[in-house]
Amino acid sequence: LAPTVQLHSGAHLPLLGLGTWPLDDAAAADTVNLAIETGYRLIDTAENYRNEKGVGEGIRRSGVAREDLFITTKFNREHHSVDGVRTAFETSASLLGVDYVDLLLVHWPNPDQGSHVEAVRGIAALLEQGLVRAIGTSNYKPAHLRAVLDAGIVPDVNQIQLDPQRPRIEERAFHNEHGIVTESWSPLGQGSGLLDEQAVRAIADAHGRTPGQVVLRWHVQQGLVAIPKSSNPERLAQNLEIFDFELSGEELARLCLLGSDSADVIDADEFGH
Ligand code: A2P
Repeated sequence: LAPTVQLHSGAHLPLLGLGTWPLDDAAAADTVNLAIETGYRLIDTAENYRNEKGVGEGIRRSGVAREDLFITTKFNREHHSVDGVRTAFETSASLLGVDYVDLLLVHWPNPDQGSHVEAVRGIAALLEQGLVRAIGTSNYKPAHLRAVLDAGIVPDVNQIQLDPQRPRIEERAFHNEHGIVTESWSPLGQGSGLLDEQAVRAIADAHGRTPGQVVLRWHVQQGLVAIPKSSNPERLAQNLEIFDFELSGEELARLCLLGSDSADVIDADEFGH
């Protein structure tokens, strides 16, 4: 099982979980069941993925107790009001077949104009009723988060696209300053050729690991939560087997250099541990 990070709401979020985009219901049921059997406990879905029913079926098929799982979903922008979020939650919970969600996220901040704050307020109301266990945002920039903080709510998690080619250093610093955990979507840089990069391959060879494992280790070793999607049983298993080796500070920094927005980060000491 993956180690966890404690959120300020008190919940324990595993550092490594399963992403389920773009699986349909049937594929999601199979993949989620297999992932849980393999040892995954964090499952990430969304209203927008249209597979919550399949995810729920996979969860039930696995036979693992609900309280041992960490189920995450997100709602679309038409629900950005306190009542709207309640309705969205009820639909998702019913499709998933659960009576609470561990982490509920606003999927996208847009349209802005305050609705991205109202959406978070809606989640906070559900938290008070015990229907969600942690408050999440997704794709929120620091300016969006600032407005949420100004409204007196501190999200537990902000989920953003993040990988060694997009290390998002400034956003992570903002999150850290406010105790918000950063979760990486498309942590393997889906389709970008990241896993074929020479630097990634060389580090993988040095550790006797695969490029995917090296990149996922890069995330979790920096305290980032990663949710790679794989429906391939072998890759599903290897993506979880990243807690028994360590990258050096120099290797972490070398991977960051792949990023176009990383010109300001090149101090290997920053990543020492
Ligand atoms: P597959 O499902 O066939 O394993 P991301 O989560 O960054 O968006 O990446 C998901 C993509 O990466 C999927 O296409 C998935 O394909 C592939 N993938 C997942 N794990 C690995 C891995 N360890 N090595 C190579 N490709 C992977």
